Amino acid sequence: MKTTSQSIVPIGKRGRSYQRIVVLTGAGISASAGLPTFRGPGGLWTKNPELANALVAGAHPDLMWKALGGLRAAIPTTKPTPAHLAIARFSPASAVTVITQNVDGLHEKAGSSGVIALHGRLARTRCSSCDAPSFDDEAPHATAPPCPKCGAPLRPDIVMFEESLGAAEEMGSKRALRDCDLFIAIGTSGTVWPASSFVRSASFEGAHTILVNLTATEGDSAFAEVHHGPADEIVPQLFGG
Ligand code: OAD
Ligand code: ZN
Repeated sequence: MKTTSQSIVPIGKRGRSYQRIVVLTGAGISASAGLPTFRGPGGLWTKNPELANALVAGAHPDLMWKALGGLRAAIPTTKPTPAHLAIARFSPASAVTVITQNVDGLHEKAGSSGVIALHGRLARTRCSSCDAPSFDDEAPHATAPPCPKCGAPLRPDIVMFEESLGAAEEMGSKRALRDCDLFIAIGTSGTVWPASSFVRSASFEGAHTILVNLTATEGDSAFAEVHHGPADEIVPQLFGG
């Protein structure tokens, strides 16, 4: 049964009590914080298709810094949205695992813990060559600084197209999906694998599935319950009381 925004029942007030909730978020949850989405009107890839083509595995770090500099520069002053805050304030917090495709760190800023950052974190830097640990770094470098350990160019600690996910993130999300009884996707176009496949994994495990997105997407049909509208309106209703 598909439902609309007019009939949002808070997840804490449903006939069934959900114990293991997986929340998957995408760029749409951060849009009202002033960060651009990737696709659709005003999207980073829509405005600069060449950026998406350039940001693939093996891209030179100078290009990554150039392409992502504006977004990185915005991160220190960007605040979590009402949607991020509603998820972080849900009680019991232990029932919720947040998996995000976003690299903006806003779930952590809102107070969520144990966030699985599937595509990495833009405010962290790592070596493009050696295994020196990644570190916090909010500076928007114009060109790639050298790795203090091996001298190779440093790069933002994010997952580029055609790169593998981090092992911990991949295992953590598989584990969470295997156990989940409620799966909620928020503000994602559902076009990037593997996150796009999570709804099917969750359904297969018997979880109820909910999608919150500003507009209809091709992914709507994979969900049992769909709410169209701004995340800032719908998510606080779902997660609040
Ligand atoms: P997209 O830009 O593909 O999709 C954003 C979705 O958010 C769209 O479906 C919009 O309709 C929706 N949206 C926009 N504003 C919203 C609002 N206020 N409330 C609710 N929904 C809203 O972003 P993602 O699906 O996150 O990967 O993209 C997935 C990945 O593709 C990103 O993580 C990034 C990109 O390439 C990497 O950088 C590795
Ligand atoms: Zn190095």
